Amino acid sequence: MAEDQEEERPELFPFRGIHMVHYFTDNWDQVEAFQARPDDVVVASYPKTGTTWVSQIVDLMYCLDDPSRVHRAPIYERVPFLEMSKTEDFEAGTTILDATPSPRLIKTHLPVQLIPQSFWDNNCKIIYTARNAKDTAVSYFHFSRMNKIQSRAGTWPTFLEEFINGEMVFGSWYDHVRGWWDKKESQPILYLLYEDLKENLPREIDKICRFLGRELSVADKQKVVSQTSFDVMKSSPMANYSTCSAMDHKVSPFMRKGQVGDWKNHFTVVQNERFDEDYKRKMEGTTLMFRTDI
Ligand code: A3P
Repeated sequence: MAEDQEEERPELFPFRGIHMVHYFTDNWDQVEAFQARPDDVVVASYPKTGTTWVSQIVDLMYCLDDPSRVHRAPIYERVPFLEMSKTEDFEAGTTILDATPSPRLIKTHLPVQLIPQSFWDNNCKIIYTARNAKDTAVSYFHFSRMNKIQSRAGTWPTFLEEFINGEMVFGSWYDHVRGWWDKKESQPILYLLYEDLKENLPREIDKICRFLGRELSVADKQKVVSQTSFDVMKSSPMANYSTCSAMDHKVSPFMRKGQVGDWKNHFTVVQNERFDEDYKRKMEGTTLMFRTDI
């Protein structure tokens, strides 16, 4: 039996064309009316695609004069989660952000069509990170098992079907990654891929620097690379979510494997064939390409 069968879990329900749990809609009036500032930097993504990693990279870039500041608070306070409502662990994202001095770093998992208008009006820079669908599905499954604010994970086969059908918190992966890919034509959006970060982190850090108009010395870049490695982040309570009471790291750690290709340990041959066939249909016509292996 799945670990989450016994405990209270929020229901998934349709919300503005996607699926959500109440934790991300309870504060919706404030989210919709949120006042962005021109120097806000947004770290946007579908869940489980490297959000925490990119958040840590950008936060470090902003405090290189004193890199120990990266340990000043948990990642969800340093890069507040816009649509998160108030819970045992979190103040509402909008409440924290309203009280945060500029320049602010802001995390969101919203699909592009639900981003508050004021981000577009202010031409805010947005770093979007995407990850191949198979590894995202696996990571999301284990995350749903360990995180009580997620809807029930169920079993891997049922979870995978729901992923394919877009019945996930924050909606369909396919629509999410495509929506943001198209939007980058008209807005300042840097579109990163988890697989590229894994392949060559210094190169991707250069891309982020160029996008944000920052220059890093060789020594500073080295600091960012070493401080954002999987092992360093996994062992840091300020990056690994061990301070978050909704998450049971005994079920599955937040920093789980951090690999490309772990999907091969989960998909059966039949699941893989069905997934690939459906994927072709859903991703037809886009120039967006992912690697499921590096
Ligand atoms: P796995 O579950 O595959 O291990 P998010 O932050 O968007 O929730 O994404 C979490 C995923 O990113 C997890 O994937 C986690 O291990 C991985 N991750 C986080 N920090 C990482 C890092 N520094 N290097 C590689 N992967 C990282």
